[in-house]
Amino acid sequence: MKIAVLKDASDTEARVAATPETVKGYVNSGHKVNVVKGAGEPANFPDSMYKEAGASIVASNSAAAKDADLVFSITGGGKKLISSLKKGAGITGLLSPTDNMDFVKACAKAGVTAYALEYIPRISRAQSMDVLSSQSNLSGYRAVVEAGSIYGRAFPMMMTAAGTVAPAKVFIMGAGVAGLQAVATARRLGAVTTATDVRPAAKEQVASLGAKFIAVENEEFKEAETAGGYAKQMSEEYQKLQAELTATHISKQDIVVTTALIPGRPAPRLIDKNMIASMRPGSVIVDMAVERGGNVEGSKPGEIITTKNGVKLVGLLNWPSRMASDASNMFSRNLKNFLPLVTAEDGSYAPNWDDEIVQGCALTRDGEIIHERLK
Ligand code: NAI
Repeated sequence: MKIAVLKDASDTEARVAATPETVKGYVNSGHKVNVVKGAGEPANFPDSMYKEAGASIVASNSAAAKDADLVFSITGGGKKLISSLKKGAGITGLLSPTDNMDFVKACAKAGVTAYALEYIPRISRAQSMDVLSSQSNLSGYRAVVEAGSIYGRAFPMMMTAAGTVAPAKVFIMGAGVAGLQAVATARRLGAVTTATDVRPAAKEQVASLGAKFIAVENEEFKEAETAGGYAKQMSEEYQKLQAELTATHISKQDIVVTTALIPGRPAPRLIDKNMIASMRPGSVIVDMAVERGGNVEGSKPGEIITTKNGVKLVGLLNWPSRMASDASNMFSRNLKNFLPLVTAEDGSYAPNWDDEIVQGCALTRDGEIIHERLK
């Protein structure tokens, strides 16, 4: 099949959906690959590496997409591009379908199949294709490293002739994929690390990383995980108890990283102004949920704000893009593992519509919007 690798690069995006490593594999399997000029540059994969891997370099996204069977992208390349694709082609990416219905409609209209990689079901067989996990994992790491660089003190305890440096106290709120990697990173850097979540499964995972788990562990907590492994929206009463616990704990923390999300809802508010005011100057709070409404009162998307009492509220966006090389490597391997599901035995593009993973992430087919969540 003919594969196009788009240039997603912009001021806010540095990742690429196929690295020279995966392109080489595609070419060796008999596929033809067109990569847009400069697509990999921000992630440190120059055009020369793609050429060496056997790809052709083309001038623009539309030139790459026009005769492609399958288009690889990070974010879909925008609605306009879809009219350049041929009927029956596919396009993959983190398409944020509910926020981009115009894009989805354009795909349906053009007879293009859009695969939203974030909708890949989280079943064991799909773990190697799980872009949410691969990208969140790096985000959790990066958030702690970034917090460390903004924080004006050290992470580990240091005993020196000039006196002792106390270890930083780091608190991670939300111990999913990003949160657990944040816990692991803070621990590796030598911080005294605590973490919280509303799902009981998180307790053991946090403990296994050597951090202390703190949570309101009442009856509601025992039931807080959905069958899909996600958190439920907690009751007002639970939220009040959780806020009381957070308030007593947070005043002693130096760095807080919040990652709490509930599928299909705004992010839960976990930290309010009074809690922030109780922290000492120089403390850092990273709100990784800022794009979805934020876990922290006063945090702003894309900004680092210093509060009156000298606490830094970090609302940076697109954490995986800050680690573009590794994030692109992982994203590309996720896509490589997805490719067989849309490839016939002879190597041509042919989605296996009987496969639950294809069914789970395909948004459009033969001119129709087919995904349950979008109907
Ligand atoms: P997420 O990004 O939706 O949420 C992040 C974390 O916030 C979750 O751990 C959630 O429980 C927590 N949270 C929600 N409300 C909260 C509150 N009020 N206070 C504190 N924490 C709160 O979750 P993510 O990272 O996508 O992982 C969710 C689950 O899915 C995890 O159990 C993970 O192990 C599981 N998973 C399963 C996979 C598979 O089987 N293939 C792959 C990846 C994750």
